[in-house]
Amino acid sequence: MRKPLVVGNWKLNGRLAENKNRILALAEAVKNITQVEVGLCLPYVYLFQAQQLLANTGMLWGAQNVSQFVQGAYTACISAEMLAEFGCHLVIVGHSERRHYTAENSQKAVIRIQRAVDAGITPIYCIGETQAEHAAGVAKKVIAAQLSALLGLDELSLQKIFALGLVVAYEPVWAIGTGQAAIPAFVQEMHVFIRRLLAQYDSHFAANVRIIYGGSVSLDNAQSLFAMPDVDGALVGRASLNVDTFAGICAIASQQAVVQSHV
Ligand code: 13P
Repeated sequence: MRKPLVVGNWKLNGRLAENKNRILALAEAVKNITQVEVGLCLPYVYLFQAQQLLANTGMLWGAQNVSQFVQGAYTACISAEMLAEFGCHLVIVGHSERRHYTAENSQKAVIRIQRAVDAGITPIYCIGETQAEHAAGVAKKVIAAQLSALLGLDELSLQKIFALGLVVAYEPVWAIGTGQAAIPAFVQEMHVFIRRLLAQYDSHFAANVRIIYGGSVSLDNAQSLFAMPDVDGALVGRASLNVDTFAGICAIASQQAVVQSHV
């Protein structure tokens, strides 16, 4: 059984005072949710707050990116070792907003994944097709290329990445921030496709890897998305900024996990 993972991606949002209330209220709201792992990925400057406020809560927390460099003259970069020293559990890698605004690509993302894993941090590798690619009917081709950057690594590196519990986030770019999530049947089809690609490398890993969905997840659509057997959680943007909404999404994931454990 794959334990669902629901992670809030705060993106470029937050202020010290409001974060405090939001983080504490969230920790309280999800404290009895044991069927699901709940996490937050915050801007770097708020990681200290997360470290302080989430200690001993069982919630996971981490960053929204990590440098592909280890150390040296790389102004403004934050290394995986730095994140690990801080206590981060998670790091998002390859998010479409990074790909779009800072020309990140799958090759760089895969190096970042390796850096994260070397430091003991679980990477969440974001993949997904753009609106134009979706419209052109090449979604699967795009996903396959994004994954092949990963699967092209040497055996030892892949084993390490899989052992550390890599998470794959399928985030169709056209669904992000639009209020229009992809329909559950389509998400299921894409997740199965991703799992099959991973199975070509290692069927055991593919059966156990968590593939989470991101793109306008809300209280309204969480139930139908989590009902899909290959949707192992969510990466939640806007809806994670509201404690009641995000905690509600986590609760729905938890109820669904209980239902599926009886299937
Ligand atoms: P929204 O939930 O705001 O669409 O963002 C999704 C996302 O990009 C999560 O990483």
